[in-house]
Amino acid sequence: MNAALEARNLTLRYQNDTVFSNLSLAIKPREIVALLGKSGCGKSSLLNIAGALIKPSEGTALFQGKPLNAVSPKIAMVFQSPSLLPWLSVERNVSLALELKAARASKKERKALVASALEETGLSDAAKKFPRELSGGMAQRAALARMLARRAELALLDEPFSALDAITRGAMQTLLKSLIRRHESSALIVTHDIDEALRLADRVLLMRRNHTGALEEIEVGGDLGADDRKARSGARFAALREEISFRLEQN
Ligand SMILES: Nc1ncnc2c1ncn2[C@@H]1O[C@H](COP(=O)(O)OP(=O)(O)O)[C@@H](O)[C@H]1O
Ligand SMILES: [Mg+2]
Repeated sequence: MNAALEARNLTLRYQNDTVFSNLSLAIKPREIVALLGKSGCGKSSLLNIAGALIKPSEGTALFQGKPLNAVSPKIAMVFQSPSLLPWLSVERNVSLALELKAARASKKERKALVASALEETGLSDAAKKFPRELSGGMAQRAALARMLARRAELALLDEPFSALDAITRGAMQTLLKSLIRRHESSALIVTHDIDEALRLADRVLLMRRNHTGALEEIEVGGDLGADDRKARSGARFAALREEISFRLEQN
């Protein structure tokens, strides 16, 4: 089976500055992978290549086995700020991507997809609200609803919950994980929060500044206890947290 996402020997240069070279990674279908690394090491750049927003200087990125030449409707990007259009209701913001001709969804299909995406993200009652009326957590739920409505098969998330308070962040992590699992999609999530990586991911990838080669990986196993407080204070969680933090320090 093709990888959901594969990066083969990617090199990225900005002017004369090499951010990473010969970098490779693969994300299996239905896998949730977290990418950790110090600020400035190139995580966002890598994610932007995976979303076809920028092109690598060398190498190839493949989505479901095919080279990524253009932005795909099957790939959803979620950023720290939910980028909702302020003059449209939550419902319209979620429906927007489906209104494009390329989406080929009838009005009836669109309505059904938007309604179920809002329902799954707990936003049904906020459908008619405008972005200014939403809390940070609700706005980020709307970004997840947008991802669901367009039936994205790969989610690329760049520190999606960093701007949220700790309690909301925890609830959003649980929600994200259950949505990705339920829809059998795959996800690559950039975060600087080790606990977030451990709660969400099947595998954690570590990236260094001027990274060359395959990313260093740490198997988490998927269900270390996303919702389970006991698991999070348990020995395995602590050991992994310690190992990752040690390796990041060495980077
Ligand atoms: N558009 C750009 N032009 C030039 N340099 C950039 C650009 N985007 C990012 N960089 C540089 O590339 C490096 C990696 O940036 P980035 O991918 O944002 O890292 P991270 O997300 O890990 O913090 C940084 O040194 C940053 O200054
Ligand atoms: Mg970044």
